[in-house]
Amino acid sequence: MPDGADLPAGTTPVLDVQHLKTVFRVRGGEVHAVNDVSFALGAGELLGVVGESGSGKSVTMMSLLGLLPSPPADVRGGTVTFEGEDLLQLPLDKLRKVRGGRIGFVFQDPMTSLNPVFTIGYQIMEPLQEHMGLNKSAARARAQELLELVGIPGAAQRLNDYPHQFSGGMRQRVMIAIALACDPKVLIADEPTTALDVTIQAQIIELMKDLRDKLGMAVIWITHDLGVIAGIADRVVVMYGGQIVEHAPVKELFRNPQHPYTRALLTTIPKISGERARRLTVIQGQPPILGDAPTACPFRDRCDVAIPRCSRENPPRYDLGHNHDAACFVAKGSQHAG
Ligand SMILES: Nc1ncnc2c1ncn2[C@@H]1O[C@H](COP(=O)(O)OP(=O)(O)O)[C@@H](O)[C@H]1O
Ligand SMILES: [Mg+2]
Repeated sequence: MPDGADLPAGTTPVLDVQHLKTVFRVRGGEVHAVNDVSFALGAGELLGVVGESGSGKSVTMMSLLGLLPSPPADVRGGTVTFEGEDLLQLPLDKLRKVRGGRIGFVFQDPMTSLNPVFTIGYQIMEPLQEHMGLNKSAARARAQELLELVGIPGAAQRLNDYPHQFSGGMRQRVMIAIALACDPKVLIADEPTTALDVTIQAQIIELMKDLRDKLGMAVIWITHDLGVIAGIADRVVVMYGGQIVEHAPVKELFRNPQHPYTRALLTTIPKISGERARRLTVIQGQPPILGDAPTACPFRDRCDVAIPRCSRENPPRYDLGHNHDAACFVAKGSQHAG
């Protein structure tokens, strides 16, 4: 796929990921966790990345930020263009400056979460002093402003509190404040609301939408829940088995899903019918084992429309028009028939 080809015409990408490939070396072989992933992110855009657990969402984002330990991880190919530079080629000190600076991130991962032994104030001020060169009092003022921005009451006082003194939802707001500290152009949010209850989730999602509009940053929002994406994303990328299997603007994806995996995912969104919520449908079968480089469609064993070709070749992403593509021989065939 050519540079930025999946953006609407006339949009410049702020982040452009092309042919990313990440492999884990494990005993007895390799795990192909991210296989030829390409996507672009437009300025101020909110891109949803969806797929069930193990589909390669987190490894994709950690690869482009250089956050995976190597070994066992090996980012084997691709380019990640941000502000004219390939992040995969940047020396570590420069990459560190980008990370938590012009690209902010909120992970569910404990590795990047709050440190229990430092106050919230210290943890917000640190990147401000390191990346933005603010002195202590300026950093403190900015930290307070950030806590106010993410809706934490009594911000000035709360700077002196430790993480355990905050509720789960408030801690996640603090994480967002840290990610926003250096005015990022891009914010990567990896399942930031998964551990929270539904009401708090909705509040955080509202907050993100609001911040995106206010600050004009681009957001990558990762979730296993297509229902969450529906309300916030401009475009959606669907991942399965380490690959992008479908991509479309959000309305187009919901109106006209083409990949059988996306269709199955859509049926897992609980719908309210009458006064009773319908039982959550679970997609039959197991996710693929990502042992070998794929020579077949990763979804074929769970797919109810698979044809023999699906076992012989891994389908490329076919352009279906309307800025929509799907990696499916059958979807491609039916589009052409219709
Ligand atoms: N350290 C690791 N060693 C081996 N395999 C890993 C490692 N980390 C992740 N993987 C594999 O990479 C694949 C993608 O994982 P991940 O990106 O975390 O999925 P997601 O975020 O979509 O739930 C999974 O099959 C997972 O088992
Ligand atoms: Mg993940």
